[in-house]
Amino acid sequence: MASDQVARCTIGIACRKFSSASGSPNPEDGAQVSQNNFMNNFPDAFEYITRVLNAKVYDVARRTDLVYAPKLSAKIKNRVFLKREDQQVCFSFKLRGAYNKIVALSDEEKQRGICACSAGNHAQGVAYSAAQLGISAKIFMPQTTPSIKVDAVRGYANEQSEVILIGDNYNMAYSAAMACVEAEGRVLVHPFNDPLVIAGQGTIAQEIIAQSTSENVDAVFACVGGGGLVAGIGAYMKAIKPSIKVFGVEASDSDAMTQSLKAGKVVELPSVGLFADGAAVLKVGDETFRLCQNVVDDMVNVSTDEICAAIKDTFIDTRVVLEPAGALAVSGMTKYALTTGAVGQTFVAVASGANMDFDRLRFVSERADTSETMISVQIPERPGSFIDFYREIYPRNVTEFSYRIGGPPASIFMSFQAKSPEDKVEVMKQLASRGFFPKDLGNNELAKTHGRHLVGGRAPSKQTQDEVLFRFEFPEKPGSLLKFLEHLPSAFNVSLFHYRTQDMKRTPVIRPPRCPASILMLESWGRCWPCAGCTASSWN
Ligand SMILES: Cc1ncc(COP(=O)(O)O)c(C=O)c1O
Repeated sequence: MASDQVARCTIGIACRKFSSASGSPNPEDGAQVSQNNFMNNFPDAFEYITRVLNAKVYDVARRTDLVYAPKLSAKIKNRVFLKREDQQVCFSFKLRGAYNKIVALSDEEKQRGICACSAGNHAQGVAYSAAQLGISAKIFMPQTTPSIKVDAVRGYANEQSEVILIGDNYNMAYSAAMACVEAEGRVLVHPFNDPLVIAGQGTIAQEIIAQSTSENVDAVFACVGGGGLVAGIGAYMKAIKPSIKVFGVEASDSDAMTQSLKAGKVVELPSVGLFADGAAVLKVGDETFRLCQNVVDDMVNVSTDEICAAIKDTFIDTRVVLEPAGALAVSGMTKYALTTGAVGQTFVAVASGANMDFDRLRFVSERADTSETMISVQIPERPGSFIDFYREIYPRNVTEFSYRIGGPPASIFMSFQAKSPEDKVEVMKQLASRGFFPKDLGNNELAKTHGRHLVGGRAPSKQTQDEVLFRFEFPEKPGSLLKFLEHLPSAFNVSLFHYRTQDMKRTPVIRPPRCPASILMLESWGRCWPCAGCTASSWN
């Protein structure tokens, strides 16, 4: 089959459905589509296999584990294995390609030294490899690179090497690296667009095949940045075991390979989202693109929230926190299974890296709960309407509830956990039937990133003259919030409310009542911490 006959997926769901009704890949189909493509369109296919088989990665790289993930398997109803590249000494697969390239340099080239540009994992692989081989490396990184990554590169580098922070983005740092190659005659170690780098990454496929002889693997999922990882895995798979489908996974806002495969040529994106920073490239390589056209069965695109959910899912099975790019494959596999209805298959997802910035964990944990539905809704501005509204959602767990007086009507931000997608539809219908018309904010990035934190602030002075601010903590257990609301006396006018579950034993609630009747609740609800400006401190 000619390459233009390979059905490519599009942005968004971005998956091709396999032809059989069960959604199961057909080994024969795979053999025809991909092995023929590769062998016919790729005169140097054999060279790639040879390069993978001769790759010298094991001086520094580990044969990482291929581990069964029971919880993920149960969640997506397929057998899931994770290829644990987080186990490498630099916590990502990038060491394989970098070392394979550097070790193959001639003595004269090694003498001249090397040069690399990267915002993260490749830089670590290059610094580590150069140190092992006693070579001088100049590593250019954007000034915006998180210090945790810069420090890691400096930590691996030998005395002859140097880390240079330059420019605001990868492209500017890359120009500086090219200028250095020109001026100093150093050899560039490209992060993805180099046959030896690609072949180094291809050793992952070789290991997967060797480690899964007792399994019938249907598909492998790999993150795509510049395309070196998926090209290396795909080249080896399509030649050696073409029945295994190869899927590339990209973030929806950083989908250079998906766009390029659709267009049939390398497409340069005007900008990229930076959440999965390890894989955020404006333009894939021409060599990686040439390979991907022939060895990648399809692309899957995922959202930031789906990546966060994959970080959490992987953590639940392994207790390892993958970085966003490192979790892309798991995310794409999950999306593929859920959207195509594939069940009972065997999937491998490459957990490609775990260089997670600790500071990002708060954001990840906030977004990881895909069972959480965020809505905004307007309710009548009158005592008791909070509870009327909340009873429509109960007994589902409410995880967030924010309100600031300003109406009528009262505008509320709320998140709750539906039991299933069907249950969510049921709740929305139920609310509408009671005259509440909730707006689903699940896809509203502005609301999720900023809006939820902006509820509060100055309100009309007429409505807030006697306002007093309280902070409550109460044990977080089913029904606590409902009980709390039920104990609010009906004469009580709440002018600000902020509730967020914290997955701790206690949950804080902030609300300034206009009447000091809350003292009635202090006895049954434990301690109350008056906030700044509170006039009721004597109540404690
Ligand atoms: C953790 C991680 N996964 C995947 C990728 C994508 O690799 P490639 O650029 O070879 O597609 C990268 C790129 O740096 C990465 O750091």
